[in-house]
Amino acid sequence: MTQPIFMDLGHPRDVINRWSCQGPSQGWVKAEAMADPKLIVVSVRLPVRISHRRGEWQVEPSPGGLATGLRSVAQRRPFTWVGWPGTFVSASSQETMVKLLESHGVPVFLAESEYQGFYEQFSNRLLWPLFHNISGRLSFDRNAWNDYRAANRRFADAVCEVAQPGDTVWIHDYQLTLVPRMLRDSGLDCAIGFFLHIPFPSHETYRTLPVREEVLQGILGADLVGFHTYEFAQHFRNACLRVLGLDSERDAITQPSHLAHLGVHPIGVDPTEILGFTTLPGVKQELADLEREFSGKKVILGVDRLDYTKGIPEKLLAFEEFLRRNPDWRDRTVLIQVASPTRTEVKEYRELKREVDELVGRINGSYGSFSHTPIVYINQSVPRERLTALYQVADVAFITPLRDGMNLVALEYVAARGPHPGVLILSEFAGAAACLGGARLVNPHNTSRMADVLTEVLVNPATPGETFQQMQEFVRSNTASAWANRFLVRLVAVHESQRFGARRLRFEAEQPYAAPSQTRALLLLDYAGTLHPHVPILSEAAPDARLKRVLEDLGGMARLYIMSGQPADVMDDWFGELPVGLVCEDGLAVKDPGEDWPQMPAVDGAVFEDLVEPVMVDFYEHTPGSRIEHKKAAISWRYRAADPKLGPRRAKELYAQLEDLLHGMPYAVKAGKRAIEVRPVHLTKTSVAGALLAQYPEAEFVFCAGNDGPDEEMFEVVLRSKRQHLYTCYVGGKDTVGQYFVESPDELVAQLETLAWVWSGCQVPSS
Ligand code: ADP
Ligand code: G6P
Repeated sequence: MTQPIFMDLGHPRDVINRWSCQGPSQGWVKAEAMADPKLIVVSVRLPVRISHRRGEWQVEPSPGGLATGLRSVAQRRPFTWVGWPGTFVSASSQETMVKLLESHGVPVFLAESEYQGFYEQFSNRLLWPLFHNISGRLSFDRNAWNDYRAANRRFADAVCEVAQPGDTVWIHDYQLTLVPRMLRDSGLDCAIGFFLHIPFPSHETYRTLPVREEVLQGILGADLVGFHTYEFAQHFRNACLRVLGLDSERDAITQPSHLAHLGVHPIGVDPTEILGFTTLPGVKQELADLEREFSGKKVILGVDRLDYTKGIPEKLLAFEEFLRRNPDWRDRTVLIQVASPTRTEVKEYRELKREVDELVGRINGSYGSFSHTPIVYINQSVPRERLTALYQVADVAFITPLRDGMNLVALEYVAARGPHPGVLILSEFAGAAACLGGARLVNPHNTSRMADVLTEVLVNPATPGETFQQMQEFVRSNTASAWANRFLVRLVAVHESQRFGARRLRFEAEQPYAAPSQTRALLLLDYAGTLHPHVPILSEAAPDARLKRVLEDLGGMARLYIMSGQPADVMDDWFGELPVGLVCEDGLAVKDPGEDWPQMPAVDGAVFEDLVEPVMVDFYEHTPGSRIEHKKAAISWRYRAADPKLGPRRAKELYAQLEDLLHGMPYAVKAGKRAIEVRPVHLTKTSVAGALLAQYPEAEFVFCAGNDGPDEEMFEVVLRSKRQHLYTCYVGGKDTVGQYFVESPDELVAQLETLAWVWSGCQVPSS
């Protein structure tokens, strides 16, 4: 019944044929430029089933929920799928396999040992239970983590081979969390989307993951991260805050490189296809057989993979309790439980199978009779068409996962019923519970209450009509293809919005430059977060050899000033030997290149001590983890170690109080990175920038880089200076008054290297 996937997807073969294989070592390459940008879908498996029979490989399409969702999208645009073919292929057969799969997608080959660590261990024995909030089943193994990273790298490399600037890449699920960051770091100029098909746990659970930072950072490489429910998105946002210290806007995580937007996009099914199945003669026959078989009985249905997240034992226990309490119903009720085998190589799944086998045996033994078996247990995968006959015959769908991303079975049941309402008993821990208002929600941990609900819906049934219709409306409007469209439209929109008004700094493309004469070019460079990533420990903040080299080169060709919050002695230590100027303590004093520090200005501390400090002490006392820092020309309240939700809230209050207190006085209140600072207005970076511009009136090339609000104030001063070539560059992904942006200090340093090459007359090395 199933058709080849790309025929099914309406995917024109000629699109795929424009790709040619140059052998597995080189992977796939583009044979000719494609007019339209394409969609690249990346999932752990290609939607195919491969077998090796009579010495030959056989490929059958195996479209799951994802392929259903992408069918209509793939009909409209160039499309390719990147994934593991689902089998191990020796190096000598890989080329054959690539050809064989030509019309299905781009295969990523994995070695068997790597697959075990990547898929069985790290994905399915650690991330799967952890994300489903099932503790006691966690097993972290560093080798498995290394395999996970290596396998993710293979997927990312495969994407890089086929991607062109302007394409859209959509990565799916927990097995591939590192791919978005890998793609971003590779400089791919594509919109990058990630969708998590399983739940995201609360941060309390998530933070127990030994590699929690890497996994979060991996996902955050995406422009858009999609979840089935608002709750999962909120958990993710909290984890970003609590684990990485990243703040968020209303629906985006703010990070140094870019905004990672969060989207709530519950997946759907294809109700037209499902209703179509019900008209097939075979399905009609199956339904007639089932109706005859269970005539006069109430049918309860469960359809699940045999997975410990699905709450199958809990469901069986609830049914057992229902039978115990309702002797009259023992011969009149049947529970059909279809449980398809899954991940049978994993120990926990084999244990679950034993447990379910035993429970079914016990219940059937206790409550069955010669003429009736209460539980019909089918431990097999059932063709999708036949499932619709089961959905149609079932008076009640009984779906009780302990945790579930969405649960498509719930949607399929609603879709398959057509005009005949049914009862959906659904775990409140399934993502679908957030969409299906007409379901009878249950807590699967409370088997006794589930037995009550079974009694209510079977013994004293209410007419389910109206509430069922509401669910059908949801299923009809929120189809799988609507889901894919919504996600992709939003992805492209947020990707485009990342660029804001600023252009990406590319010195190799910028013309003309000012001639390299020391006094004709002025470079004002903030340090922490701009030339060097923010780090919590001072010893890690020192510049490395590469950075020093480029500063030295540029310092020899221009007037270059480094601005930092560090005191003069630390700056001397870091940059003392370089031909550069230094600005210490965010504007306290300026040391010109080759000169000594001037006398440090005397700052009247009375305002700090008498007015500001008492207010800050009050905040310090009520905000555990915060501290007060005294510098020569500033006093600040710092809250990096405070609770990440409490700290920013208190900071807002403190900022407002200090603004009020110092109104009309020559002191500036600044909100910096996890700090509120007060300093005299004439000792800020902005005032220093103004003074340096005045000091070098002949500088016609001015470049200024920074990464926060005070730096943007400097940009404004620079932009007002009316020199011939002005460059203000923001480091990070946010809307900025700067004309240019780069995503990271690393990218800025690379651009400064380019500038140095151009100025020294060297050819710019191609990247
Ligand atoms: P999960 O993705 O965790 O397996 P879902 O309920 O979201 O759970 O999706 C399961 C999909 O697999 C549904 O489309 C369902 O029809 C199908 N399915 C579940 N159990 C079986 C089975 N025994 N035989 C065939 N298909 C099944
Ligand atoms: C869930 C996951 C999918 C996974 C599927 C089947 O739906 O979200 O990513 O493919 O289960 O898992 P399996 O390991 O049996 O392929």
